[in-house]
Amino acid sequence: MSIYITTPIYYPNAPPHIGHAYTTIFADVLARFSRLTGHKIFFLTGNDEHGLKLQRIFEEERIEPMKYLDEMADVYKRYWSLLDISYDYFIRTTDRYHEEVVKHCANELYKKGYIYRAKYSGWYCVSCEKFYSEREYVLKNGKPFCPIHDKPIEWIDEETYYFKLSDFREYLEDVLNNRDIVYPRSYALEVLNKIREEGLKDVSIARPRNRVWWGIPLPFDTNYTVYVWFDALLNYISGIGYLRDMARFKEYWSNVHHVIGKDILWFHTAVWFSILKALDIEPPKKLIVHAFLINRGLKIGKSSGNIITIEDLMEKYKSSDSVRYVLMRVFNLDKDVEVSTELFDSIYNSELANNYGNLVRRVGVLAIKKSKGIIYKRRIDQEIADKIESCVNKYMDYMEKYDIAQALNTAMELSREANTYINDVKPWEKAHPDKELYTLLELTRVISILLHPVIPRATAKLSELYGFKITNPRVLEIGSVERFNVIDSPILFSKIK
Ligand code: MSP
Repeated sequence: MSIYITTPIYYPNAPPHIGHAYTTIFADVLARFSRLTGHKIFFLTGNDEHGLKLQRIFEEERIEPMKYLDEMADVYKRYWSLLDISYDYFIRTTDRYHEEVVKHCANELYKKGYIYRAKYSGWYCVSCEKFYSEREYVLKNGKPFCPIHDKPIEWIDEETYYFKLSDFREYLEDVLNNRDIVYPRSYALEVLNKIREEGLKDVSIARPRNRVWWGIPLPFDTNYTVYVWFDALLNYISGIGYLRDMARFKEYWSNVHHVIGKDILWFHTAVWFSILKALDIEPPKKLIVHAFLINRGLKIGKSSGNIITIEDLMEKYKSSDSVRYVLMRVFNLDKDVEVSTELFDSIYNSELANNYGNLVRRVGVLAIKKSKGIIYKRRIDQEIADKIESCVNKYMDYMEKYDIAQALNTAMELSREANTYINDVKPWEKAHPDKELYTLLELTRVISILLHPVIPRATAKLSELYGFKITNPRVLEIGSVERFNVIDSPILFSKIK
């Protein structure tokens, strides 16, 4: 089956931090897991390159927009390759074909009567690139502030073009109530509540060009620029070939999985589903929403000044796998998680270094010492085979629910069992512990396969050093490996102080 996985496209006003990495690594884990379980994947990420937030940078720093954006696209690509993000394509909203799609869609909606001109006034947060209603913003010393960025918001009053979002109320309520798209479901209910309480107001989808010049010209009135969110959402269809390659678009769109943070839920449900409906396109198959990484109670972000950088973690743990692991180990769809470098260090030490890393090392050393690394197939005790099977089933259930943290926990549980097994059977005291070593290598193989989507580098390396294949976790066939050939016993994760 073909599956299309997307991340949000990021504003390149700064390099990515662990909040962005959190989303991107999660999407990558889904992509890797789905590939491993036999699916054909197209994985899209990219940058959101228009709008006022970026325009302000160009104005303040007097830099040429495309020069800045090209550099930042390279910066993002470098980070994603550093973190082993296996994306298939990196989209930029300044790409020509994307602009064509945006213009085409704006024209379509205009022709169909979904766009009209009128006056707009309201409070705007440039960092969010969105308007805030009276019940959404917070007051500080009597002044309206953005609840996410904790910064003053700006009053805007101008002629604009609106998209008739209000026309889609019935459709949205039907889709959100009856189709299992938004995951976890609580987020769908949140949107439904908001619609019930506040109604659905039409949204402004254009900005006067003399105020916001950095964007795609509105095709039917070039005194206006397309609103950055209308432009950005369309990346999901332009990135897979909408208009250019409709066969490919149809193949993948029918199974698109969007991954987003909860801050952009409204745009990805109310606004996005309605735009799609207006274009006669089905809503996405799945919208997977996660909560925030927070530090000292605030969402980690540039404006909160509480960023933990990707470099900090990379430098300390010396591998992308470790950064991926610690972030996925705290991953949570429903709840914000408070993180700190201490928390990450303790996860790294107790799980990667002391548990899995230690297991791998002990098994390798013993295999080389006792059998010169060559270990032939032996019967595995039923009790252990059952334990492995039940852990794999549990892991698969968690993965199907996108609960990566619990899936990892399950793999670690098996790894702990394996360490206990070594202590119990004491292979070092035996002259020919072949059965014990085979059992341990099978355990190591299974655990490595389960961990593979999250720590692809270490596990791929190990599969070469120990002589097994990374296969589909659905068909592990415990006890099927004819022969292991251990040529080295690596220290995959050194303990840190
Ligand atoms: N450009 C828009 C998205 C357009 S998609 C059509 C945007 N960009 S952003 O650069 O601000 O990135 C937003 C995404 O980054 C969030 O939705 C979330 O997935 C991720 N995160 C940024 N900070 C985060 C945390 N502190 N915690 C978790 N995720 C975070 O919005």
